[in-house]
Amino acid sequence: MKTLLGLVASPRKFGNCEIFVKEVYRRLEGSWHLRLIRLPELDIRPCLACYQCLFGSMKCVQKDDLACVLKEMVQADGILVAVPTYFLGANASLKRLLDRGLSFYAHLENLWGKPAVGVAIAGVKGLEGYSKLMVDSFLKLILADHRGSEVVYGALPGEVLLNDDGPAAARRLAKALEHRAASPDPHVPRCPLCGGDTFRFLAHQGINPSNVRRLRCMTCSSEGTLQWNGTSFVVDTVRGEHPLFLTREDAVAHRQWLQSMKDLFLERREELKGVTRAYKDVGTWVRPPQD
Ligand SMILES: Cc1cc2nc3c(=O)[nH]c(=O)nc-3n(C[C@H](O)[C@H](O)[C@H](O)COP(=O)(O)O)c2cc1C
Repeated sequence: MKTLLGLVASPRKFGNCEIFVKEVYRRLEGSWHLRLIRLPELDIRPCLACYQCLFGSMKCVQKDDLACVLKEMVQADGILVAVPTYFLGANASLKRLLDRGLSFYAHLENLWGKPAVGVAIAGVKGLEGYSKLMVDSFLKLILADHRGSEVVYGALPGEVLLNDDGPAAARRLAKALEHRAASPDPHVPRCPLCGGDTFRFLAHQGINPSNVRRLRCMTCSSEGTLQWNGTSFVVDTVRGEHPLFLTREDAVAHRQWLQSMKDLFLERREELKGVTRAYKDVGTWVRPPQD
């Protein structure tokens, strides 16, 4: 029997995220067991930016619930994340976990290729903000095989399954988890390299034909263009220097690059200190009063 890990990033019990995760699970055709983690319940502390987890035993120095989540992620056969939109972004519990993402590199070999899908749930159509991008980034940065993500709508608990779109999205994600990623909607311009559909428009350089716009894919960081070819808009992108992560080699290379920063830091320490020293006594830090 396979194990599906459902990461529920909502504090609301029997809310849309929880129900949606269970619905995807119920639609799986094979023999699966569902394990659930409610992220806001966990003690996941802010990253200390000490980079210790990239060296030696590659373990985070903090004693909190991260190790428990990592163990579940490593052991699962598939990962499904569901996050509610809070103020146009994903609930902070997802970002809190992602901020500890340097710890994922210790498990690259186990996480790479693991099927993973996600959903961003918003209460109001059009007010999902950047929550889907956060889901896409999460699926990529946990080093899994990103097989699909959806935005669905529902404000009241359970409402997400009361329209046609919610159940249809659950069906697509279940299929993507078990088989290959479903063919994406051809009417949505996507990054041809990673399938991402969130872009940042860039300033044009020199003479810019009126039907071409420069952009960067926010999911894999590749730069390219959006062009009207007479029938539809087409995105064309090329790999950047730090693609996230188009191949396993990209992920391994990024881990090595991160590790190499330690030597670079030691090499440039004095030069960097020269910059930071000048700011030592600037401003007054506000800290809450201690009892
Ligand atoms: C603090 C808070 C902020 C929210 N912000 C948004 C928002 O920016 N856009 C939106 O569409 N829905 C917003 N919602 C609605 C939730 O995304 C929606 O109700 C969702 O279904 C909640 O999922 P859950 O039932 O799993 O908790 C917000 C809800 C809360 C509690």
